[in-house]
Amino acid sequence: MSTDIGAAHDFAERQVRIVDVAQRQIGIVRWRGDFYALSNICSHQGGPLCRGVLSGRLGATAPGEIVLDDTVPLIACPWHGWEFDVRTGRAILDPTLRVRTYPVRVAAGRVILDLDRVGAENVLASEA
Ligand code: FES
Repeated sequence: MSTDIGAAHDFAERQVRIVDVAQRQIGIVRWRGDFYALSNICSHQGGPLCRGVLSGRLGATAPGEIVLDDTVPLIACPWHGWEFDVRTGRAILDPTLRVRTYPVRVAAGRVILDLDRVGAENVLASEA
């Protein structure tokens, strides 16, 4: 099922907007011009993941040399702080744990969400 969830220009950069589609809450993220969609249900204990903080990934090249990788959008769950890669739904500390992601695209200026398929890297997600 493909669902038009709004005009692309209405989705602010580096923000999450939660939409209700087919009795699911799905967070839509616009990051560096690309769109991503992931479940609002955290795979840890079911927290409202998409109400968490969105950021780039912090890493280190050497002790004390902190680097922000702005190409990797992360979201941190507000309940216990687990972080997930928005692009794949994988947990940062344990990539075998995921939240469900969904294909999302822009066509003729509209954001289209496809609930029939899970995201390309998320075929093992367990959410029904
Ligand atoms: S419920 Fe999300 S980190 Fe625990």
